[in-house]
Amino acid sequence: MGEKVLRIGVIGTGFIGKQHIEAIRRIPGAEVVAVADSNGEMVKSVSEQLHIPSYYSDYTELLKKKDIDIVHNCTPSALHFEINKAVMKSGKHVYCEKPLTLNTKESEELVQLSKEKGIAAGANFNYRHNAMVQEMHERVKNNSIGEILVVHGQYLQDWLLYDTDYDWRLDPKLGGESRAVSDIGSHCFDTMQYILNKKIISVYANLITVYPIRKRTEKVGGTYSNQQGKVLEEVSIHSEDVAFIMIKFENGTQGLINLSQVGAGKKNGLSVTISGSTASLEWEQERPDKLWVGHRDSGNEEIYASSGFLTGAAKRYALLPNGHPLGWTDALKCAIQSFYEAILHDTYQEDKQNYATFADGHYIMKLVEACLISSQHKEWVDIQ
Ligand SMILES: NC(=O)c1ccc[n+]([C@@H]2O[C@H](COP(=O)([O-])OP(=O)(O)OC[C@H]3O[C@@H](n4cnc5c(N)ncnc54)[C@H](O)[C@@H]3O)[C@@H](O)[C@H]2O)c1
Repeated sequence: MGEKVLRIGVIGTGFIGKQHIEAIRRIPGAEVVAVADSNGEMVKSVSEQLHIPSYYSDYTELLKKKDIDIVHNCTPSALHFEINKAVMKSGKHVYCEKPLTLNTKESEELVQLSKEKGIAAGANFNYRHNAMVQEMHERVKNNSIGEILVVHGQYLQDWLLYDTDYDWRLDPKLGGESRAVSDIGSHCFDTMQYILNKKIISVYANLITVYPIRKRTEKVGGTYSNQQGKVLEEVSIHSEDVAFIMIKFENGTQGLINLSQVGAGKKNGLSVTISGSTASLEWEQERPDKLWVGHRDSGNEEIYASSGFLTGAAKRYALLPNGHPLGWTDALKCAIQSFYEAILHDTYQEDKQNYATFADGHYIMKLVEACLISSQHKEWVDIQ
């Protein structure tokens, strides 16, 4: 990146906030100067352990700092709307975790505000920045697997397998009305739309709540950590543990998405298969630096991430020589870097960006809402 130093503030220093800090520190010319988290003890210890000069338990104090260029919003989803608005009103660029908000009313307002204020506004759909997802995007663009016949996406996890598993995502006030679709389906939507460079325009969803009652204990675990202590109360759950979603893209391509947060043994099992008329492409997030190319009349191939074997713009995502596996943290770094480059090159107001914009995040909220309506009415729902 250029010579200018970008000064960054991170709000929310839980699971993903710490990953952002690490990723930002790998980007030349970017410096984390302040962190904020409502958990005062935690933000103090993050600031001390990671040598970040300023820390606040009230994020509005961080926003008063004049020397911050970009704020990352890594708080629970219910706070994205309020905090993103406050960041933009303070004149700083904002990079927010997914899902962008809890509903389209909020996400639409954020898109408007970012335009009015001329603010760069990115949503962290990090998987599109994996080298092999970039390669799939390039190969589809170059027509190298022929006409796209059908696409399959899957995201399976097991961290909510037991009825004693609980975190803020299960509380509709904090996580929203949808859970599996909003939390992990949103990643499928973004990754598949990015690979095909086409929007999903219609959905038919069947949302399933496996546990209508869950048990909340004294100490609710953080993201991906177990609860501890005595069971305090039984909580009614209305959001979905599982979703089956049929999808139609704007060019007529059809596909299927399969989501679960109760699949024993599946940790972060995102995968996408694109079936073309001459070959298929498949990427599995838990084998992040490999791309499977399927053939009918010859042997299948497995390509490793290496600039020598990747195509076009995907080459620059192969950060290491062949055999030095790229992974989740590399995709996050590339996602953030892509956003920062648009700021440094002053191109962030252009409609099409390589990173997911707030407009993309808003469109994904429309897909989430459409799934809720579709499942309720048992019918196809078009995106307006
Ligand atoms: N892109 C991804 O792959 C990915 C992965 C995990 C989480 N996420 C998203 O990141 C967000 C955070 O998730 P997480 O798993 O890190 O949650 P978490 O619970 O681990 O961390 C959230 C942090 O926000 C803090 N917080 C709560 N209220 C606050 C406030 N008012 N001001 C400042 N800080 C506040 C909490 O104290 C906590 O430290 C969610 O929107 C989630 O969907 C994205």
